[in-house]
Amino acid sequence: MKFKSQQFGYWFFASAMLLLVLQVLYGFIMGFAHMGYDNLHEWIPFNTARAVHTNLLVVWLLLGFMGSAYYIIPEEADREIYWPKLVMPQLISFLLVGVVAVGGYHVNWWEGRKFLEIPRPLDWLVVANVLLFLANVGMTIWNGKRFTTTSIVLYLGLLFAALLYLPGMIAFDNQTLDSFYRWWVVHLWVEGVWELIMGGMLCFLLIKLTGIDREVLEKWLYIIVGLTFLSGILGTGHHYYYIGTPSYWLWIGGVFSALEPVAFLGMAIYAIAVARKGERKHPNRIALQWTVGSAIVAFVGAGFLGLAHTLPQVNLWTHGTLVTAMHGHMAFWGAYAMINFAIIAYALPQMTGRKLWDQPSAMLAFWCSNIGMICMTGAFAVAGITQVNLERRMGLDFLRVQEELHVHFFGLILAACLFALGIGFFILNFIRHGTPNTEAIGMDVDGSISDEGEFATS
Ligand code: HEM
Ligand code: HEM
Ligand SMILES: [Fe+2]
Repeated sequence: MKFKSQQFGYWFFASAMLLLVLQVLYGFIMGFAHMGYDNLHEWIPFNTARAVHTNLLVVWLLLGFMGSAYYIIPEEADREIYWPKLVMPQLISFLLVGVVAVGGYHVNWWEGRKFLEIPRPLDWLVVANVLLFLANVGMTIWNGKRFTTTSIVLYLGLLFAALLYLPGMIAFDNQTLDSFYRWWVVHLWVEGVWELIMGGMLCFLLIKLTGIDREVLEKWLYIIVGLTFLSGILGTGHHYYYIGTPSYWLWIGGVFSALEPVAFLGMAIYAIAVARKGERKHPNRIALQWTVGSAIVAFVGAGFLGLAHTLPQVNLWTHGTLVTAMHGHMAFWGAYAMINFAIIAYALPQMTGRKLWDQPSAMLAFWCSNIGMICMTGAFAVAGITQVNLERRMGLDFLRVQEELHVHFFGLILAACLFALGIGFFILNFIRHGTPNTEAIGMDVDGSISDEGEFATS
């Protein structure tokens, strides 16, 4: 690690881990409720648990992205963060907004719009906070010694994510219009601009971990970005089938969203090919495993399982059932949680100078969490398909069907225990690294690969 200010990333990653633990806890509350043990209902009803679970997910992933930017951008721009004194206040204020929002959900202060439950006054605080973050990172790039494609793609992803937050803040009294623009945030984030963030992080990690030329890796990044936009923007139509929009969205959404897996497939092939070709092997193999694993699991969870219900003929039956939860879990895990785990696995030894990548806990974290998540996806799939058949095809009552599904959630809880064990191992390894220290600055713990910088444009 070259610069002191890169160490700020640590505090973002640590906060992200804390919120992940809480997210998993609320996942268990919902899992048990689905099994028929809704014992906490009086204090934490299902709708509260659900909003907390999904919002904590988004907040911890954003914290991971911000930490990654604070870690990656100084190295790419070859200078310290522009306003280092503003970084910790930005983190703390972001966390405070998150705590108030989650607290608010417990006393029914929320908007009831899936994923965008945060009340509008808090939205403005999020906007101010993110502007501060973008300004700091932007000034670092602008005043840096070099501009790299990796840092620009990462930055544009973060900038567009902030801009796309705004359509979700417009107040409508028309349900269709509200839904229409809600998807500009939710869909265009995960199937558009967050893919740029993922692409930027993937490229940075592959450069560091394989020693392959930056020029080659960054060229592929353009292709991935192109494929993402080509399919993802009009792919938004797969959410417009039955919300009151004109029927031409049926074929626009179907055709373009069916192309979306190509971008994820491209990313997976890219990561696998690069990892196999890597000339100078970096000793931190587990970070490479998380990196390549992220691209592969994202293809399966987002690309393949997304495709499974993206055509209107299928979505007609599966819309809003547990089939959606099946896809949502593996897609979020593969694409965005795993890429954050990859950068953490790479950056922690760099920040602390401790080489714990060969610890059994590092390997157990990878396999338990991934096998656990695959089994969870299977459990949701079985529950979802049963739900579609009983409720939608046979026309049984919603609550009656929920009772039939109790048994499948026993399987989900078992799988979730394995998953949580993996997360536990990851966090144990995180804690074992200790906090960043000054000795790690200027020291490259891999010792063998130094970043080239020969393709810098300035
Ligand atoms: C990493 C990328 C992705 C993530 C994180 C993701 C996540 C999600 C989530 C959380 C939902 C539920 C949203 C809600 O109801 O508010 C959803 C819905 C959906 N996703 Fe994805 N997704 C991704 C990529 C894809 C792709 C590539 C496709 C298609 C090929 C796809 C197809 C769908 C469809 C059709 C729905 C609507 C399900 C319904 O009608 O209930 N997704 N996705
Ligand atoms: C112990 C682990 C977990 C358990 C037991 C769990 C359980 C659940 C349950 C029961 C739901 C509600 C489904 C419904 O609407 O009925 C849910 C929703 C959701 N969870 Fe989890 N979860 C866990 C971890 C995670 C992780 C790690 C992620 C992301 C990486 C995640 C992402 C989501 C998403 C995106 C939704 C909303 C899905 C949708 O819109 O349909 N969960 N979870
Ligand atoms: Fe979508």
